[in-house]
Amino acid sequence: MFITLEGPEGSGKTSATKFAVSKLKEMGYEIVETREPGGTPIAEQIRNIILDKNNKAMDARTEALLYAASRRQHLVEKVWPSLKMGKIVICDRFLDSSLAYQGGARGLGIDNVLNINLFATESTWPDLTLLFDIEPELGLARIQANSNREVNRLDLESLKFHHKVRSTFLELAKRFPERFVIIDASKSQQEVGEMVLKVILDKLCKLKNI
Ligand code: TMP
Repeated sequence: MFITLEGPEGSGKTSATKFAVSKLKEMGYEIVETREPGGTPIAEQIRNIILDKNNKAMDARTEALLYAASRRQHLVEKVWPSLKMGKIVICDRFLDSSLAYQGGARGLGIDNVLNINLFATESTWPDLTLLFDIEPELGLARIQANSNREVNRLDLESLKFHHKVRSTFLELAKRFPERFVIIDASKSQQEVGEMVLKVILDKLCKLKNI
C-alpha cells in the first residue's frame, strides 16, 4: 500500500504519523517511511537546490520540473522496489504537493503540473492520501514556535500563497475522493495520531477484502 501525507506548512503531519507508524510496526506491518522532495541521495541533492533560501531567482516551471525529477528518482530507487517487496510505503508529501504548491499557489495550473508528473511517475497514484488540513495562520505560527525546524524557501512565501496551497489541497480532495481522507490537523497531536492509525487500518481492511 502506498500512503502519502499532505498538507500546508506546520500541519504536524510528520509528528502525528509517528504514533501510527510505531503501532503498525508493533502489529507486524513492514513500513518504509520516506519523504519528498528527497528520500534517496540524488533526490536529496535536488531537494537542497529547490529549498535553498538563496535561490530566489528560481523560475516556477524550473521548480515544478525539479520536484518532478526528484519524485522520479525517489520512485525508481525506493518507492517502487519497496512496494514490490510488499511493504507499506508512507511518503511525507508526493504529487499532490506539486499540484497544490506549483499548480495552485504558483499559478502554473493543476493540469499542467499533473501532466509533467504523469510523465515522471508513469501514472503512479497513492492508494491513500491523508490531507492534514489546517488554517495557514495556525500552521505558520506552529513553525515559528518550533525552533528545531529549519525555515525553507517556500515557508517564506506570503500568507496569500499559503491560503492558495490550502484551498488547492481541498479542491484536490474533492477531485479524488476515492483516495483522499481529510484530517483536522488543528486537534492535539495525540488525537490526530489516533485518527491517522484508524484511517490506515480501515484502508488496509478494505484492500484485504477486495
Ligand atoms: P517539507 O517542509 O514538508 O519537507 O516540504 C518541503 C517544501 O516543499 C514544502 O514547503 C512543500 C514544498 N513542496 C512543493 O512545493 N512541491 C512538491 O511537490 C513537494 C513534494 C513539496
